[in-house]
Amino acid sequence: MKLSRPGNPAERYSAGNMAEFSQKKTVARRDEHAPDRIVSGAPLDDDARLDASVRPKTLAEYIGQKRVKENIAIAIEAARSRGEALDHVLLYGPPGLGKTTLAQIIANELGVVIKTSAGPLLERKGDLTAILTSMEKKEVFFLDEIHRLQPAVEEVLYPAMEDFRVDLVIGQGPGARIHPFHLSQFTLIGATTRAGLITAPLRSRFGIVHRLDFYEPEDLLIILCRSAKILNIQMDEAGAQEIAGRCRGTPRVANRLLRRARDFAEVRAAGRITREVAQESLRMLGVDEHGLDEVDRNLMIALLDKYAGGPVGVGTLAAALSEEEDAIEEIYEPYLMQIGMLDRTPRGRVATPRAYEYFGRELPKRQPRLF
Ligand SMILES: Nc1ncnc2c1ncn2[C@@H]1O[C@H](COP(=O)(O)OP(=O)(O)OP(=O)(O)O)[C@@H](O)[C@H]1O
Ligand SMILES: [Mg+2]
Repeated sequence: MKLSRPGNPAERYSAGNMAEFSQKKTVARRDEHAPDRIVSGAPLDDDARLDASVRPKTLAEYIGQKRVKENIAIAIEAARSRGEALDHVLLYGPPGLGKTTLAQIIANELGVVIKTSAGPLLERKGDLTAILTSMEKKEVFFLDEIHRLQPAVEEVLYPAMEDFRVDLVIGQGPGARIHPFHLSQFTLIGATTRAGLITAPLRSRFGIVHRLDFYEPEDLLIILCRSAKILNIQMDEAGAQEIAGRCRGTPRVANRLLRRARDFAEVRAAGRITREVAQESLRMLGVDEHGLDEVDRNLMIALLDKYAGGPVGVGTLAAALSEEEDAIEEIYEPYLMQIGMLDRTPRGRVATPRAYEYFGRELPKRQPRLF
């Protein structure tokens, strides 16, 4: 059974980058016919290697998310002093905000082994049972994309999380017997970008549930300066500020834009990221002052012009943009909602007055109320 290493390719699709998003899904699917492999062990490319080197390893290095960090620090301390396994943890929030990083930090701070898998990779009950029965006391099992577990596989988790038990079926047909197998007390850390898709029985079995929010520019500035130091990149504070304000509140995007700005600085400038260098490289990447990229803009323009500001269903929008519905819901919409350009309503997606203003469209006159 092969387990993933930190920073495997399945972890690193960037917000705002559809190619990488599809790649994450492809990597997850690639091993479907290799039951002995839980997660792909494909070689890391340059960006992934750099990503792994800047990934924080301790809670102290994990910037921002103050409330989450404080709560987790207390839970870790309490579990450690009692000599028990940490309660099960569910982390949710848009891609690239640090769920996987935090899971690895928790295991690191607890001083225990972390085993990793992802919902779509566990096709059969046996795949999950094999991992659960291999867990030692207090070890961490990180289950990414937990919302994509098959229902039958998910059911194996219920007694495992609650009573540290799996029910093994021995024999076949009418003579089959159920044999309860007792597991060591382990910690499950589940991560998802789609908390709404997690079933109630699963969610209720997590003792610690945290949502990660988009980062403030001040936190992103610290993250960027830290990454630049680790990667030996020369950057002015003004250059860092420029990137911090235009990376969709997302550390992964910040680090990606930093690497691209470095490329630009090395080829076109004197190797130093100044405000001008950052602005020029972001312009070449098609990232605007708000951090919106081409897909964000196309989405908003389709909503404003083609569908008269909405409401329009996400499926229709996805078809109009030739994007996957999942990508729109997981990557693009959360940030557009965060900056107040788009709203989700029961009747569909609508553009806000702010979006009309930003894209220079005239706000339609309100329909007169009939009653
Ligand atoms: N709080 C943080 N401080 C510093 N760097 C961070 C922080 N959170 C995330 N990062 C950086 O952002 C990168 C992406 O984070 P991570 O892979 O943990 O995101 P994720 O939430 O698991 O995303 P996905 O939903 O796509 O799996 C990491 O490699 C790390 O370098
Ligand atoms: Mg992750």
